[in-house]
Amino acid sequence: MRILLTGSSGKLGRATGDRLQDLGHEVLGVDLHGTAGAGFTRVDLQDYGQVLDTMLGVTARHSGLDAVVHLAAIPVNGIVPDVTTFHNNVTATFNVAFAAHRAGIRTLVVASSITAMGFPFEVAPPALPVDEDYTAAFTTYGLGKVVEEAMFGQLVGWDPELSITALRYTNVVGEGEWGTFARAGDPDYRRDLLGSYVDVRDGAEAVVAALTHARPGFEAYVIAAPDSGVDIPSPELAARWFPGVPVASGLGDRDPLVSSAKAARELGWTATRLWRDHYSV
Ligand SMILES: NC(=O)c1ccc[n+]([C@@H]2O[C@H](COP(=O)([O-])OP(=O)(O)OC[C@H]3O[C@@H](n4cnc5c(N)ncnc54)[C@H](O)[C@@H]3O)[C@@H](O)[C@H]2O)c1
Repeated sequence: MRILLTGSSGKLGRATGDRLQDLGHEVLGVDLHGTAGAGFTRVDLQDYGQVLDTMLGVTARHSGLDAVVHLAAIPVNGIVPDVTTFHNNVTATFNVAFAAHRAGIRTLVVASSITAMGFPFEVAPPALPVDEDYTAAFTTYGLGKVVEEAMFGQLVGWDPELSITALRYTNVVGEGEWGTFARAGDPDYRRDLLGSYVDVRDGAEAVVAALTHARPGFEAYVIAAPDSGVDIPSPELAARWFPGVPVASGLGDRDPLVSSAKAARELGWTATRLWRDHYSV
């Protein structure tokens, strides 16, 4: 496939671009910053003219695309003012989705986030583990992801062949970042993430799975390791963090408090890189 990859210079974008190319796909990366060369074009996704023109063709780069993988975003609150996070991300995502629709590109895979399902969980979720049925935002970054998902749900109604898959990533752990698990025995560690994590290479593999299983319509999937990032039995953590919140029966000691069961079932995706393989407490 010939794939446009937004956010190609970022953490998830670099791993995803590498993986797609390993699999033989032709990838054109776009980002605000990047290394000039055959696989990259500098684009500001806030500018609809740039986005639409890039989708239609780029001299010396491509003359038609099969799919768009949209990972570009300001990935957390605090880097820029809260309002800028919302404006940049929602504008960029609208521009990408609408330009793809105008250009007749019918397969989109986009990064959503655990921030669309309750992060930082100061408000208790309705049940544990949390899955795609729960949508709640408490930051402008999360609000942007909720708005984007709502927009996708509407846009697929405009074209019966349009496929949009949103991957609700939890915290993405890159190579060299496993040292943070030194705190795995601390009951406050990763509380705002319900203890969850996902290796960046597994995150890239989720994009591959979403492209492979793309079908018309909109679906969201939680993308998290099938494992707790906290070295305290999960039923104990659930009771400590959220007393009174119903917990699925049979929750194992190392089971995560966010569930990627839907991604396993429908995309055939399960993360395989676990923190204990990289770091021992
Ligand atoms: N890293 C995580 O833990 C995490 C967790 C959940 C969701 N996500 C989502 O995954 C995606 C990738 O995150 P990441 O960790 O690779 O972030 P990153 O910051 O490493 O990469 C994002 C890239 O997007 C680019 N970008 C931002 N605004 C742009 C614009 N207007 N035009 C062009 N490029 C623009 C940036 O230059 C950057 O290279 C994002 O959508 C993020 O919200 C990330």
